[in-house]
Amino acid sequence: MAETDTRKTLVLTGASRGIGHATVKRFSREGWRVITCSRQNFAENCPWPAGPEDHIKVDLSSQEDVGIAIAEIRHRLEANGDQLHALVNNAAISPKRDQGSRLNSLETPMQLWRDVFQVNFFAPIMLARGLFRELTTARGSVVNVTSIAGGRVHPFAGTAYATSKAALASLTREMAADFGPHGVRVNAIAPGEIDTAILSPGTDKIVETIPLRRLGQTAEVADIIFFLCSGQSSYVTGAEIHINGGQHV
Ligand SMILES: NC(=O)c1ccc[n+]([C@@H]2O[C@H](COP(=O)([O-])OP(=O)(O)OC[C@H]3O[C@@H](n4cnc5c(N)ncnc54)[C@H](OP(=O)(O)O)[C@@H]3O)[C@@H](O)[C@H]2O)c1
Repeated sequence: MAETDTRKTLVLTGASRGIGHATVKRFSREGWRVITCSRQNFAENCPWPAGPEDHIKVDLSSQEDVGIAIAEIRHRLEANGDQLHALVNNAAISPKRDQGSRLNSLETPMQLWRDVFQVNFFAPIMLARGLFRELTTARGSVVNVTSIAGGRVHPFAGTAYATSKAALASLTREMAADFGPHGVRVNAIAPGEIDTAILSPGTDKIVETIPLRRLGQTAEVADIIFFLCSGQSSYVTGAEIHINGGQHV
């Protein structure tokens, strides 16, 4: 009989760089098993202790691919007694015009708008519903990664991105109401300007107006995600924590 893996388990989308990368490192350090999901193959030079058995190649812009990934994740969770302690919906796309300028509501092609909503909004609820039984068994936690752009017009973030993140923030509330009675907490984190590849040229001008006068670091975001998946936040659900150095005060 196969041995049971007693580590807590996280399923994390978009771990290959940026905030997701810092998150997988943080959870691994705490002894969690992290099943990562992104379009890339498993990186042989993976900087945390993991193997291909903990990586799933999935294109979240394809509903069919997400369905296949859910079945594969459920299969791999068998080693954990079908328990999933956390799901972090971190992967997102933020299409921009040339030179990184904002793609506004008059010019965003409808197909692009649909793709953004599939990756940023539909994939999170598909994963949470598909893994509901495993989350319930572990009395687990879901964290949706939203954005400061979901609450106000941002100089670089496009309309499709902003509206998908606003929808994800609403979905977080709805999910908290629906998942709570089953013992599953659902929260969101809304990053501001975090030092990753998603930022546009010109962000340094925004930083001059942020009260803390600097970009956020990916590790600072990972710390809050970890807090929301830990017992330290056991009475927190339906919340959206803003991680932005005071940018919207
Ligand atoms: N950085 C910021 O300042 C900031 C601010 C506000 C909100 N956020 C949010 O924070 C989260 C992470 O942002 P980040 O800056 O770390 O992003 P990033 O560096 O652009 O990384 C995005 C991740 O998502 C994955 N991904 C993208 N499209 C995918 C697809 N179709 N299927 C599967 N995986 C896909 C990418 O992996 P592959 O390329 O391997 O597929 C990558 O790992 C996002 O939700 C973003 O909206 C970031």
